[in-house]
Amino acid sequence: MDYSQQRAVGVALLPLIGVLVGALSTGCSSSDNTSSNTSGAGGAAAGTAGQGTAGSNVGTSGASGVGGSGGAPVSGGTGGASGASGTAGSAGSGGSGGSGGASIDGNCSPPDDVYSPIQNLSQTGCVDPTDPTKLTARAIPYEVNSPLWSDGADKTRAFVLPDGKKIHVDATTGKWVFPVGSVLIKNFLFDGKFVETRLFMHVDDMSWAGYSYKWNGQGADKQTEATVVGLDRDEIMFNTGKQTVDWFYPSREDCAKCHNDVAGNSLGPDNGQMYRIATGHTMNQFDELNAKGVFDATPTLPSAAQVLPLPYHSNQLGDPPAGATLDQKARSYLQANCAHCHQPNNGFIMSPFPNFDLRYGTSLKDAKICNAEVSKGAVPGSTSTKILVPGKPMDSILWLRMNAAYTDTGTMVRMPQIATHVVDAAGVKLIGDWITAITTCP
Ligand code: HEC
Ligand code: HEC
Repeated sequence: MDYSQQRAVGVALLPLIGVLVGALSTGCSSSDNTSSNTSGAGGAAAGTAGQGTAGSNVGTSGASGVGGSGGAPVSGGTGGASGASGTAGSAGSGGSGGSGGASIDGNCSPPDDVYSPIQNLSQTGCVDPTDPTKLTARAIPYEVNSPLWSDGADKTRAFVLPDGKKIHVDATTGKWVFPVGSVLIKNFLFDGKFVETRLFMHVDDMSWAGYSYKWNGQGADKQTEATVVGLDRDEIMFNTGKQTVDWFYPSREDCAKCHNDVAGNSLGPDNGQMYRIATGHTMNQFDELNAKGVFDATPTLPSAAQVLPLPYHSNQLGDPPAGATLDQKARSYLQANCAHCHQPNNGFIMSPFPNFDLRYGTSLKDAKICNAEVSKGAVPGSTSTKILVPGKPMDSILWLRMNAAYTDTGTMVRMPQIATHVVDAAGVKLIGDWITAITTCP
């Protein structure tokens, strides 16, 4: 039985992903992606400006060189002007490099060349350049009802719409459809310390691209910058002052596996996830955003049955609504953590793999999991071959795989197999309780 992870070779641009190779367990290499200083063509000559390379990841598997982006200088605008003269050189790395003065490179929009994202988060325009831990004023923060488990990280989320463009809410699916040029932002924190910022960008009608930024200053230091992670995965071990965290940055291909076309690319924003009163607010997020004018038309409110409950207590998001049933909480969890891959027609991600349906709105019968035979075999430590056995989590491959440890080998059965290394104990308990409470298959 081959449990090895699929791994797309290619780029984060969804339609461009070509070849899928099996094998290749993850190799979350702990070595840093040292970026070689290949940028600069565009006149980053002056002084220290050249440090802000477009990061071609030396030593990664990195298909095709991530070439210099014509100089993505750390500061000082867009090159050109001062060009090779180097006059600004000795002034140091300040904003003196050229034509741009204190301006920054980006306007929080997708890069012209998806292989050359802006190197430093502070320069993307998505955050305050003087304090990148703060979002740009254009960013609109939001919360979701049912978060993705990411090894216990706290998260903040926001989106930035291109000027004059609006979100369209699909009346049938409740999906929030973002206009081309949108940038979605998610920060990952432990004990108030940033470890990662992810930017997910709507490049054109056909494609999105995802980038991960790795923060400096974990531990006691002030956090001043995050730099883009290369094509491959990366890892950092740091101490927040309260705990040591081993953190794994997904690869750009990993982004595309979860944020796939069938799931609709952006994964959080839809009616079921967004209908909530955000922490510290009094008005429903739906109404707040509508009042801000982000929609092209006032969306129909979701019915109670469509709204996802928070699956379990979260230090960040509080408690599930009092009325939420065990079934709703469990299904909400599976929706947020599994359904982007496990839903019908997800051929690219799943083919020729199982095609059961873990979406919230799908009945247990139609989910095709109850007493259903696995297609990928048993898992170590169990002889069961059923995805879900009523009343018996320990015989249910679905539960066993959620409870499986991360391993670095080709035999890993853990679900999800990417972007998490720590078992979600509360999630495992919830799904265990849910299976225990199911008495018979519909
Ligand atoms: C294991 C699946 C998975 C992987 C891998 C993954 N994401 Fe996500 N991501 C999600 C889910 C599910 C959500 C929505 C739930 C939430 O916000 O917690 C989400 C939310 C986001 C958001 C907020 C907007 C949205 O689409 O909901 C951003 C931004 C984001 N991810 C960026 C990235 C980037 C960039 C990468 C790769 C570096 C990545 N993600 C990898 C599953 C994944
Ligand atoms: C990034 C996509 C992705 C996500 C997210 C994901 N899975 Fe999977 N899942 C797969 C793939 C691919 C396979 C087949 C490869 C394998 O056996 O590991 C699989 C296999 C499985 C199987 C075995 C099915 C069989 O017929 O043998 C189960 C059960 C499962 N997943 C449950 C889950 C659960 C529960 C979650 C959420 C907690 C989840 N998965 C999240 C991609 C995903």
